[in-house]
Amino acid sequence: MLRVNEMNTFIGRKRIVKNVSLQVSPGDIVGLVGPNGAGKTTIMKTILGLAKFTGNISINDKEVTENNHNALSEVGALIEHPAIYPFLSGLQNLELYSHDKHDVMNIISMLQMDAYIKGKAKGYSLGMKQKLGIAIALLNHPKLIILDEPMNGLDVEATIGVRKIIKQYAEQGTAFLISSHILSELQKVMTRIVLINDGKIIVNRDIKEFNQISHQKYRLDTEKNEFSMQLLKSNSIPISKNEDYLLVKKEDIFKAQDILYKNQIHLKEMSPMNANFEQIIVSILEKQRGQHHEK
Ligand SMILES: Nc1ncnc2c1ncn2[C@@H]1O[C@H](COP(=O)(O)OP(=O)(O)OP(=O)(O)O)[C@@H](O)[C@H]1O
Ligand SMILES: [Mg+2]
Repeated sequence: MLRVNEMNTFIGRKRIVKNVSLQVSPGDIVGLVGPNGAGKTTIMKTILGLAKFTGNISINDKEVTENNHNALSEVGALIEHPAIYPFLSGLQNLELYSHDKHDVMNIISMLQMDAYIKGKAKGYSLGMKQKLGIAIALLNHPKLIILDEPMNGLDVEATIGVRKIIKQYAEQGTAFLISSHILSELQKVMTRIVLINDGKIIVNRDIKEFNQISHQKYRLDTEKNEFSMQLLKSNSIPISKNEDYLLVKKEDIFKAQDILYKNQIHLKEMSPMNANFEQIIVSILEKQRGQHHEK
């Protein structure tokens, strides 16, 4: 579907995206994840033929160039601020791009936009505009959909709804490339993660594999944290302390739970910690370096 090979993107003289290669196949939901300024938006803009680049980009074996956008005819996209005509209603905005009334109505209802879709777009809130932008990207069932930070400004319910729609389209064969600076937002939907830092891909893996290497930690709170800490340590479970909580590696949580239980210490809380990018990136780079040494 989408093939990007050795892509470098330049803004002015500066190289912003560095040797990026990636592929998205039908039904894949590829998450482009990384901290602010990593280059996610620039990668997406480049794929859409909106930036100066070297390397190859092709969609369904058709080459994308800065001057030739034919390859993009079956691509839906939402990049940064959605292109919305403020003096038209949401519905009229959608009808500009599609004459398929059934498709338009279906998308409006899936995104729960019925209540305000006939009002002028200039009166929409941030989240309402964002949903309209997503709706535009979904129109006409594109083969590839590129969404830059689609969850921006969406409430919890809308975020869950959008995840559901993405899964549904992917099951029908649509390929997705979706960015986020919040890992957990996409963790539940993506089938593959491409982690970007400083314009480079540092991880490109199946999400299941990634979850295993990302060193996710769990936060434990017990009745007696000081005692629990000594107890777990003496059972050779690596453990650290953060404010009032104990931190345990994901692979050790069941063992830790058993030990606490056997010693009749009640667990008050056990929840996954949202590791920040810095921690994840550092730990992955360290791990990669470690692997190189082993070779
Ligand atoms: N028009 C521009 N002129 C100069 N530098 C730019 C321009 N657009 C982006 N950059 C630089 O390119 C780098 C990548 O920016 P980009 O917007 O792609 O990051 P991002 O990963 O989308 O970040 P965010 O999570 O904040 O959206 C940043 O260092 C940014 O300063
Ligand atoms: Mg961005």
